[in-house]
Amino acid sequence: MSAPRIVTTAAELRAATEGARSGGRTVGFVPTMGFLHEGHRALMAAARADCDLVVVSIFVNPLQFGAGEDLAGYPRDLERDLAACAAEGVDLVLHPSVEEMYPRPMVTTVTVAGITERLCGASRPGHFAGVATVVAKLFNIVGPCRAYFGKKDYQQVAVVRAMVEDLAIPVEVVARPTVREDDGLARSSRNTYLDEAARRDAVALSRAIRATTEAVRGGRRDRAELERDLEVALDAAPGVVREYAEVLRGRDLVPTGTIEVGEEYVVAVAARVGAARLIDNATFTVAPGGAVHVDLGVLGDGRAFDGA
Ligand code: PAF
Repeated sequence: MSAPRIVTTAAELRAATEGARSGGRTVGFVPTMGFLHEGHRALMAAARADCDLVVVSIFVNPLQFGAGEDLAGYPRDLERDLAACAAEGVDLVLHPSVEEMYPRPMVTTVTVAGITERLCGASRPGHFAGVATVVAKLFNIVGPCRAYFGKKDYQQVAVVRAMVEDLAIPVEVVARPTVREDDGLARSSRNTYLDEAARRDAVALSRAIRATTEAVRGGRRDRAELERDLEVALDAAPGVVREYAEVLRGRDLVPTGTIEVGEEYVVAVAARVGAARLIDNATFTVAPGGAVHVDLGVLGDGRAFDGA
C-alpha cells in the first residue's frame, strides 16, 4: 500500500495524466467530494481493476450547493480520505482549492435539460448545472479514459452520460451499484449527520423502495399506484419527511402510465431524516417473458442486497 501523489493544481495533474496517456496507459477517474465511504472505495477498486493509472478528485464543489444547503458544514477529513485512497491503490489525488478550480466567477455553465426536471433537479434548482459544470471541468483537467460514478446518484449518472454524449467528451462513464449497510441504508457521506435515532429511522427509505420492487415482483404494473404506495410508506415512517418519492422510466426520467416491458424503471426517494437530507433508489426491469430484474445494490462485501 503506497501513498498516492497529491496534487493541487490542474497543471500538475494534466502533466501526470498526459504522460500516462501518451505512453499508452489507461486513466481511470473517480470524482468525489471527499469524506470517502465504502461506496467510493468500490468505485476506486473498480477503477484500479480496469485502468493503469487511477486518479481521484476530492473537491467540495460550491457550484452544486444551493443557498441554505450544507456547503459550509459538508463533512471533510482529508487524512482519512488519503488513507482510503492509499488502501485502494490510487495513484493520484487531485485536491484543488476553490480558487484553483474557479479563479474568477464562472461565466460558463453546462446545463442538461429534460432529465433534470424531476427528482433532485426539481427540489435542488441549479444543482445539476453545478454538477455538470464541475464534472466537465474535471474531465478536461484529468482527461480520463473511464470515469466511475455510483448508482445511488441515479439522476447524476444520467446527467453525466447525457453531457458526455451531447458534447462528445471522449470518456466511458461507468456506473457501479449502490453500496449499502447491512440493514439496507445506502452509504453516503451525509450519513454522518444522523444521530442514533435518525440512523434507525433512515432505514425506512430502502425498506420503502424494496417494498415497491417487491410489489412489482408480485405482479403490480400500475406505475401511479406503485408511486402512491411508496409515498404512503415513507409518510408513515417515523422521523422521515418526504421530499419526493417517484417511479420513473429510467432512460428519460418521466412517469409512464403502466410499467413498460423491457424498460428500466427507477424507484427514487429523497427525504429529510434528522439533520440529513438523504436520497436512495433502486431499479427494476420487467422482461418480455414477465421476469422482473431488480437492482437494489450491494453490501460492503459486494454481495447483492435483497432486503435486510
Ligand atoms: O457525486 C459527487 O460526489 C459529486 O456530485 C461530484 C460528481 C464529485 C461532482 O462534484
